[in-house]
Amino acid sequence: MKDRFDLDEVVLIGRTLAEYCQYFQLDMETLQSERILDVGAGISSFCGEAAARGLDVTAADPIYALPIEYVAQKSVADMDKVLEQFPETAHKYNWTFYRDADDLCRYRQSARQGFLKDYRFHPDRYVTAALPETHFRDKEFGLVLVSHVLFLYDHLLDYDFHKRSVLELGRIASREVRIYPITDLSGNRSNYLDRLIADPDCSDLTFTTSRGNFAFLKNSEDLPRITRKRT
Ligand SMILES: C[S@@+](CC[C@H](N)C(=O)[O-])C[C@H]1O[C@@H](n2cnc3c(N)ncnc32)[C@H](O)[C@@H]1O
Repeated sequence: MKDRFDLDEVVLIGRTLAEYCQYFQLDMETLQSERILDVGAGISSFCGEAAARGLDVTAADPIYALPIEYVAQKSVADMDKVLEQFPETAHKYNWTFYRDADDLCRYRQSARQGFLKDYRFHPDRYVTAALPETHFRDKEFGLVLVSHVLFLYDHLLDYDFHKRSVLELGRIASREVRIYPITDLSGNRSNYLDRLIADPDCSDLTFTTSRGNFAFLKNSEDLPRITRKRT
């Protein structure tokens, strides 16, 4: 048995709208009139699925600068890399939303296929951008989401990267930034969040945490919600 996933890079796997709704405690009805930005969206199908329901979503990720054939191939290899670690790390997870590793794999494949289809027909929804510095305008989006990019990889992305990224996300969002999860790959709360909350450079931001009822990786129910004090 192993107590943490071994990942030496940010992997290219994607999640679905159903999963995003759980992570981010999203009420789709209330989001109809809002511009939403998914940062580090990768091969998630959230953007395409949400757009099909009438939502205004833009996906941002550095991979959109790469040939789509490369992205498609690498995402399969990365998924294999993740799946092969599940037998040894399964005890770190709650198997309620996903019944087992096969069920999890079906969600990941659905996200990948949904992304590839939407990317082909609606490339305008997918914008090349990378944290910690983007080209988006101040308050360009109402709600900004980041799934499985920040905090989780705190062994690869240092505190300064996280600070600059959170300040950038706070600049782009007119209403709120939500980041999920705040655990590292062992399932421990990343200490970067508490450092950000205490950091004088982040004093223009308000951090609140809402506790959800979704935690695939154990201890990952908490969702930080970040707003600006001054508008
Ligand atoms: C594990 S995937 C998560 C994808 C999606 N958010 C989801 O939850 O399904 C991590 C993503 O972060 C992206 N990424 C890596 N470095 C980044 C950066 N500096 N800024 C924004 N995204 C980045 C990767 O390209 C990849 O698509």
